[in-house]
Amino acid sequence: MPEPVANRVTDGVAVITIDNPPVNALSAPVRAGLAAALSEAETSASVRVIVLAARGRSWPVGADIHEFDKPPVGPPLSEICTAIALCPKPVLAALHGTALGGGLELALVADYRLAAAGTRLGFPEVSLGLLPGAGGTQRLPRLIGPKAALGMMLSGLPMLARRGVELGLIDEVVTGDVAVAAEELAQKVVSGLRRLRPGPRPDRLREDPAQSLAAIADARKGLLGRRLPAPVRIIDCVEAALLLPEEEGAAYEAVAFGDLVESSQSAALRHAFIAERRAGHPPELEGVLPRPVAQVGVIGAGPEGTAATLMLLAAGYSVILFDRVTGTLAEGLERIATAHEMAVAAGTLSPEQREEAWDRVSGAASLAGLAACDLVIEATDLDEPGVARLFAELERELRPSTVLATTHGGIDIDRLAGAGSRADDVIGVYFHDYQANKRLVEIVTGTATAPAVTATILALVRKTGKLAVRARSGAGMISQRLMRAYHLMAEALMEAGASPYDIDRAMVSFGFRHGPCQALDLEGLEGSAGGVPGGSAPPTIRQRLVAAGRLGRDAGRGFYRYDETGRGAEDPEVLELIESVRRDKGIAARSVSGREIRHRAVAAMANEGARLLGEGVASCPLDIDLVMLAGFGFPRWRGGPMQTADQAGLLRIRNDLRDYAREDADFWQPADLWDDLIKNGRKFADLNGG
Ligand code: CAA
Repeated sequence: MPEPVANRVTDGVAVITIDNPPVNALSAPVRAGLAAALSEAETSASVRVIVLAARGRSWPVGADIHEFDKPPVGPPLSEICTAIALCPKPVLAALHGTALGGGLELALVADYRLAAAGTRLGFPEVSLGLLPGAGGTQRLPRLIGPKAALGMMLSGLPMLARRGVELGLIDEVVTGDVAVAAEELAQKVVSGLRRLRPGPRPDRLREDPAQSLAAIADARKGLLGRRLPAPVRIIDCVEAALLLPEEEGAAYEAVAFGDLVESSQSAALRHAFIAERRAGHPPELEGVLPRPVAQVGVIGAGPEGTAATLMLLAAGYSVILFDRVTGTLAEGLERIATAHEMAVAAGTLSPEQREEAWDRVSGAASLAGLAACDLVIEATDLDEPGVARLFAELERELRPSTVLATTHGGIDIDRLAGAGSRADDVIGVYFHDYQANKRLVEIVTGTATAPAVTATILALVRKTGKLAVRARSGAGMISQRLMRAYHLMAEALMEAGASPYDIDRAMVSFGFRHGPCQALDLEGLEGSAGGVPGGSAPPTIRQRLVAAGRLGRDAGRGFYRYDETGRGAEDPEVLELIESVRRDKGIAARSVSGREIRHRAVAAMANEGARLLGEGVASCPLDIDLVMLAGFGFPRWRGGPMQTADQAGLLRIRNDLRDYAREDADFWQPADLWDDLIKNGRKFADLNGG
């Protein structure tokens, strides 16, 4: 293993280079290497100026995500930052790529910052429920003023180096190799040809204390109604930087950081972050090479096929759109052209990009036209036998290694694959949304699906910027099973005495944007690809509402009455209908608290998740959480149903499940996994692997 930090001295300049591919994360060996190299450069008589640089694609992008939630090892970053701040020799930082979080904090302590053009700078800690804990909350406001500093730290959004120069965060943007430019500048400083700055930097936090206090008060006002602790603590830290002596401010930040690291919200946000980064990297496919894909065939030129084509074109693929009906094909191609026109008009696509994309799309009205494809995606409205016949026909036209994918959520991949003669090439890929809204893509593999085929689809999904969760073909996709459990529990509570509005309010207060009933409404009214994909039995109250013409696209109504602006109001007719269901079943309504609704919702989803794990449909709890986070608006700061169950305690939830099972044993019976985990003192998170 090469050393992660190199140190070389040339003519009085020590160049310390971080080299920890792929993104120079500040792992324990990097921090140890940095501490040693800095100490050596500081004490060496032959060194007059120090340059900090990074090899490869980026300046450090922050803490190493593989060290999250592990006991800290080696020197903390704050110590290294303090050493640089106290170093009597000038330190220059040469930034390129993406300087994020701890990486940017490291740069903040340097005396001078050069950045390659296009470098991105940001503090994403807030999105992990944290704050910049290596002095960032203290140093950033001094450097760029409290308003800009709060803006950066509260939004978590990166900015370009050019904007960094305007704010005083970056001293100089250079074209060409920034490490070379930094070393040249350092040499000039050594030989007395240049001073870094005429004098000390102004403290922009204390320049106008009244204005700084006003910026802090404004930021606090902007947080009203937000429930996460990190933004509040960030503002507190900036206030501490203004009001306290430097050392006390740093201690204040350290306490705030420690509290946040321990908070359940940050644990859940870090869990969500890891779930996203691990999506599409199942450990058992490590080392499996995807098949090369340049040319994709899309079957079906209806709205779904054209949306798939647009997504694939945006990801850089060449696409042949197929439809037997030439009129439909022409319409599909026209829809694509129109979408591109609109993107050009909106400024999201340049005319050149449109031309280039248009060159990559063509139409075919016979399956023979797809012969050159590396992958064919079926996006038709055919039923399972129809898709099986289509795949059988395709097999005769395609090369032996072409991947055959269906986008139907309801199709059994093993059955489909068994109907043809190339079972290993067949796979399911269900896009919850072809556009940007929902990033979730569920990949369903059959018993015979070749690992290389799965790897091919995972690579394609990554290229589209979406998040893939893989499930083994069984009784439905992960999302179908989880959402069915969620809706059945809501259904049972409605029968017991809760109104749909009680249920929605409880789940909104849990953190969902919409409760399950309103989500069903929106699904039914807008008819997007999301929601409960085909194959799940509709709950009975919903059935009644549909039968009564109360729910669904045709009715234009749902659990709520909607006005022209789309605002939903509670509907007494719906309450009467639910009451009539209770009467028919002889149920006396009881009062159901918001707490009970939330507990049952988590228990129902986590229990279904445990079943999916037991059946081997889902490969790890992280995937189940990702389905709910990326596809169904589960609050990110709760991390998904399995993480919520871990945090609530498995024993408590298992006992709740046993209680509920007295009402409906089939639905609430705890999966065996609960007992296995509890017996061994383990949690769902222990099943996620490294
Ligand atoms: N630690 C370790 N590995 C990381 C990493 C990190 N912080 N960030 C990214 N990587 C890895 C990825 O896992 C990926 O590895 P594989 O190729 O093996 O999958 C590789 O780097 C490239 O990442 P992407 O595929 O995401 O590449 P990209 O070019 O699309 O994006 C990026 C690069 C902008 C840096 C993006 O990866 C990113 O945003 N990373 C997270 C940065 C971050 O949030 N850092 C932590 C900040 S918080 C902090 O530092 C303070 C603290 O104490 C917690």
